[in-house]
Amino acid sequence: MANVWQTYGKRMASVWQFDTPPKIAKKVNTHEYQVKNMSITVAIDGPAASGKGTISKAVAQHFGFAHLDTGLLYRAVGLRVLNGVEPIEAAQTLTADDLTHSGLRTAPVAQAASKAAAIPEVRAALVDFQRAFAMRAGGAVLDGRDIGTVICVEAPVKLFVTASDEVRAKRRFLELSAKGEDVTLDGVLKDLRARDKRDSERATAPLVAADDAVVIDTSAMSIEEAVKVAVGVIEDRN
Ligand code: DC
Repeated sequence: MANVWQTYGKRMASVWQFDTPPKIAKKVNTHEYQVKNMSITVAIDGPAASGKGTISKAVAQHFGFAHLDTGLLYRAVGLRVLNGVEPIEAAQTLTADDLTHSGLRTAPVAQAASKAAAIPEVRAALVDFQRAFAMRAGGAVLDGRDIGTVICVEAPVKLFVTASDEVRAKRRFLELSAKGEDVTLDGVLKDLRARDKRDSERATAPLVAADDAVVIDTSAMSIEEAVKVAVGVIEDRN
């Protein structure tokens, strides 16, 4: 993500051109599978800590597609808001440097991101960059909340990744406490639920599965299993 931004410029509005990553050969299941001339947009949505980020990265790596974690854009806006910038201005003047900040993955920033993300003008300021990224040659995976429903309505593959509240809270608790954040499982569960509620109930681009999305419930799946399912769905579409 940071590399993309560092390579392609500071201002989001100026980032329109992307190069083509090499096509790759990959081993899928038990047979050799050559990914040739495959250049598609994969839209992956889902609630916090559902596993969509991990799946998106793995899928992008598998097919040689570029990956954009769109949550990072909203987190960068959220952090700027916590630092005193007005939300719409924060989104409209976002730079590459804002995306490389080490504090983007904290719980307070996630909540601030979710609040800013409910403001239509904030979302509007981030649309062009996401769509340009989605259309890049060589294929792209975008993950977020509204990728299949708003940003890439025409995406040939849409996944909606979910998991039970308890499983997601445990995952996020382990992740945050491993980074030294002072969190409790119960606190993380409450935070996730509050964020999901806000993200799902907002008027503009709420978190919802697209009608044509394939739902993957990762509650009882390992990362490897979930990635295998996602890769299988994408292969079936090609
Ligand atoms: O994916 P994440 O947890 O890093 O996202 C942080 C917040 O950003 C999330 O609570 C809602 C918002 N978001 C959004 O509204 N739309 C997106 N496409 C991605 C994230």
